[in-house]
Amino acid sequence: MQASLPPYHAKLAVLYQGYGELSIAQQLAEKLNIPLYTSIDNKTTEDFFLSYREGCLKLLDKGQLKKGGLVVNIKPRSGEQLSYPAPKQGALAKALGRKTKTVIDATTGWGQDALFIFRMGYQLQCIERSPVMAVLLEDAFLRLRQCEWMQKLHLKSPLLKQGNAINLLSQLNTAPDCIYLDPMFPPKRKKSALAKKPMQVLQQLLGHDEDKEQLFIAAMTATVKRVVVKSPDYAEPLGGKPDESFKGKLLRYDVYLKH
Ligand SMILES: C[S@@+](CC[C@H](N)C(=O)[O-])C[C@H]1O[C@@H](n2cnc3c(N)ncnc32)[C@H](O)[C@@H]1O
Repeated sequence: MQASLPPYHAKLAVLYQGYGELSIAQQLAEKLNIPLYTSIDNKTTEDFFLSYREGCLKLLDKGQLKKGGLVVNIKPRSGEQLSYPAPKQGALAKALGRKTKTVIDATTGWGQDALFIFRMGYQLQCIERSPVMAVLLEDAFLRLRQCEWMQKLHLKSPLLKQGNAINLLSQLNTAPDCIYLDPMFPPKRKKSALAKKPMQVLQQLLGHDEDKEQLFIAAMTATVKRVVVKSPDYAEPLGGKPDESFKGKLLRYDVYLKH
């Protein structure tokens, strides 16, 4: 029986442009089972490229080849504090719960929520289904580990598991206090201007997450105390009426408590 092709098949290649060692780019192409190019031209059919540039692994789309590309940013987003542990304030911290210590982010994606949760001092583990996003996250967590403030505080980057959280959550040795979910919801309108570039690229490369409901059930089964679901403000709550809900800008954090 033929193994099913990953969603990024024929859309993605590795592009080596002289940064670092060629063998590392080769290993990356082999790991993801995608072509390796040293240059591209009009005949190149792929739309996305993974490329090491300026000390990090970047995801570029064809139109962006000369620009910066997308990278898992390890610096705080605007409004988030750099200090460690940052104060547990705001809608996300309220949703995670005052007594929560351990969190699994089961849909890590670009890692922005995960890194915020980590900087607030929660003990965090990460899961990401897409092997493409996982290599971008691994690169980011390596850069994070090398940050001066991380080394001074003897902190380790969060543990990242690549695979489907529906399976991985059923195999945990220790259940976390909270499981955080932020799956991809279809946009409100077809040509929605709401999704930011990194999320648009993710949707083009990976499609929407069609198994959100199963993921929610797996998370409720695996957590000790609560599941937090981030959703766009227009979306129906994933697990029915939540126990609590905290509003952010154009989004909600729905909290489901384990009774
Ligand atoms: C909207 S993005 C998450 C964005 C993330 N919260 C951030 O701050 O960057 C959703 C991610 O969840 C991942 N995902 C969805 N369902 C999953 C599952 N069942 N297991 C593991 N990862 C999953 C997708 O591959 C995608 O990368």
